[in-house]
Amino acid sequence: MIEVRAISKSFGDNKVLTDISMTIEDGEVVGIIGPSGSGKSTLLRSINFLEPPDTGDILINGELAYRDAARRELSKSNIALTRSRVGMVFQHFYLFPHMTVLENVCSGPRFVSKVAKTEYEERANALLDRVGLAEKRHQYPEQLSGGQQQRVAIARSLAMEPAAMLFDEPTSALDPELVGEVLSVMRKLVDDGMTMAIVTHEMGFVRQVADRVIFMDEGRIVEEGTPDEIFNNPQHERTRAFLSAILSHTERTEPAPEPHPTEVISSLPIVLP
Ligand SMILES: Nc1ncnc2c1ncn2[C@@H]1O[C@H](COP(=O)(O)OP(=O)(O)OP(=O)(O)O)[C@@H](O)[C@H]1O
Ligand SMILES: [Mg+2]
Repeated sequence: MIEVRAISKSFGDNKVLTDISMTIEDGEVVGIIGPSGSGKSTLLRSINFLEPPDTGDILINGELAYRDAARRELSKSNIALTRSRVGMVFQHFYLFPHMTVLENVCSGPRFVSKVAKTEYEERANALLDRVGLAEKRHQYPEQLSGGQQQRVAIARSLAMEPAAMLFDEPTSALDPELVGEVLSVMRKLVDDGMTMAIVTHEMGFVRQVADRVIFMDEGRIVEEGTPDEIFNNPQHERTRAFLSAILSHTERTEPAPEPHPTEVISSLPIVLP
C-alpha cells in the first residue's frame, strides 16, 4: 500500500531522517514509537509530502508517488492526488473555526468536482454518525471538547475516502479522560480494516491494535517487529531504554518494587471505554 524506499531528510545541518525504508501493507496497522525528536512526525509528514524528503522514493499502491526532489519536481496535482489518498490526523486538530462541524467534514469533498453536494453531505452525516457526533453537526469547533474536535478531524479526513490514514499523536493534546473516546473511534477503523500508521505514546493501544511496531531513534529505524517482540523482547539497548523510560514515567505514582520494564508494558491498561 505504502512503500518508503531509503528516504533521508535534513533541516539545515540537522539530519532528521537517515535512509528510512518501510512498508505498510494493505489493511495493516503499524505503530511508530520512539523518543521526542527521533523523526516520527517528519516521517509521517514525508509520506504525505508536508515535508518532501531530500532523497528516496515513495510508492503508493505500487505507483511512484514521489521520487528524489533532485531528480524530479512533483507537480501540484500529483501532491494533491496523493494527499487525497492518504489522510492525516494531527495532535492539534486544525479544524476550520469559522465552519460548522458538518462544513468541516465537507471541506475536502466540496472541491472534488465530480461529487454532488447531496452526495458528500450524506456521506459526511454518515461519518459523523460513525464517530458519534451526528447531533453536533451544526455546532462550531469551539463549542466542542477536545476529544469531540479530534473525532471531527478524523471524520473530515475520512470524508476524502483515503486508502490509508496516518495519525500523529492524535491523543496527546487531550485531557486524559477524553483519550478513550478518540482511541475507540480509531479502534473502529482498525476493525474495519483501514490501513493505518499511528505515532503515539499510548503503548497499551499500540500493543492491542498494531500488527507491527517500529521503534525509531535519531532518525533511523532501530528495530521493528510484532508488538510482542518489541514490548516483551526488544533486541536493542536503545529500545529497552526508551520503553523503560516511558514506563517509569507512566508508573511514577506507583510504589512498585522495580519490575522488569517489559512486564510493566504488558500490564499497562488499554484505554478503551
Ligand atoms: N520544519 C522543521 N524545521 C527545522 N527542524 C525541524 C522541522 N521539523 C522538525 N525538525 C527537527 O527534526 C527533528 C525531528 O523532529 P520530529 O518532529 O520529526 O520528531 P518526533 O519524533 O516527531 O518528536 P516528538 O515525539 O517530540 O513529536 C527534531 O530535531 C526537530 O527539531
Ligand atoms: Mg512528533
